[in-house]
Amino acid sequence: MEMQEELRRIQQEAAGELEKIADKPGLEDIRLRMLGKKGQLTQLLRSMSKLPPEERPKAGQMINAVRQKLTEQMDELEASLRRKEQERALEREIIDITEPREHTHYGTKHPLSLIEDKMISIFTSMGFDVVEGPEVELDLFNFELLNIPKNHPARDAQDTFYIEDNIVLRTQTSGVQAHTMLERKPPIRIICPGRVYRADEVDATHSPVFHQLEGLVIDKDVTMADLKGTLDIFAQSLFGEDVTTRFRPSFFPFTEPSAEVDLTCMACHGKGCRVCKGTGWIEVLGAGMVNPKVLEMCGIDSSVYGGFAFGIGIERIAMLHYGITDMRLLYEGDVRFLSQFRED
Ligand code: PHE
Repeated sequence: MEMQEELRRIQQEAAGELEKIADKPGLEDIRLRMLGKKGQLTQLLRSMSKLPPEERPKAGQMINAVRQKLTEQMDELEASLRRKEQERALEREIIDITEPREHTHYGTKHPLSLIEDKMISIFTSMGFDVVEGPEVELDLFNFELLNIPKNHPARDAQDTFYIEDNIVLRTQTSGVQAHTMLERKPPIRIICPGRVYRADEVDATHSPVFHQLEGLVIDKDVTMADLKGTLDIFAQSLFGEDVTTRFRPSFFPFTEPSAEVDLTCMACHGKGCRVCKGTGWIEVLGAGMVNPKVLEMCGIDSSVYGGFAFGIGIERIAMLHYGITDMRLLYEGDVRFLSQFRED
């Protein structure tokens, strides 16, 4: 009978405590105190050895029944605690999908980059490699090896920024020609896009920093017709099938003969308009056959090899392609202007 009393007391105590439980740690505490190795019920089970043998089975049954009941109650409580915690989490983490959010601004490629990418892909499709050269350049590469010796009047035309006597900010990408010829053996077919610097005043068509794309081909039997054909393909890929090139005699120390190259005016298709000042042509780039002197200075046998070179102003092409009339727009970083240009 004592055992029954004890069991009832344990059951009551457990029920009272379970009612007050608010969280999992509390529940685990009771579980341990009642059902754990040193728990009250377990102790009771052990004390059965003191009972007369005939009472033991009955006592065992009673204890186990209580144990089972308590286990069930505790499991139920645990499940309900878990449900409550989930409900609280759902309320806490609620997301208002109707709330207006801040506007996302997507960046766009700069028009100069768009045009440069296009120019590069046109030339690489013709088999040109892209190479890059230094913007801070030795006089040797920017001038000397290009047949522009000290005191040559062509130096004046390029209003150079000097860093030291023999170091300049490159005034043209043509220095990459010399680098490449000294580093590679013919056949050579490269383009070099990049920044160049000249001490120019800023206005609608000038900037002290601008971009050029240089081209160089060195091989046996290269003619001026190859140069014209290459530039025709370039012009047509960029501006349309009806655009052709026109060569006018010109002078560059590193090419002989040299040419200023015009393209059919893309605004009027050659009829004559304000953009081309009535001529139907637009001056776009400089080119020519690489001067044998340059070849020899760069270690290439000019009796075996020859080639052509060209230099294209990337700003000029971008302005013609997009109909931009003031170069300064390209550098001011005004998103209202820049966001109009997309990759097509
Ligand atoms: N480097 C010349 C310039 O900046 C352009 C050019 C390049 C001309 C290659 C001929 C050949 O004006």
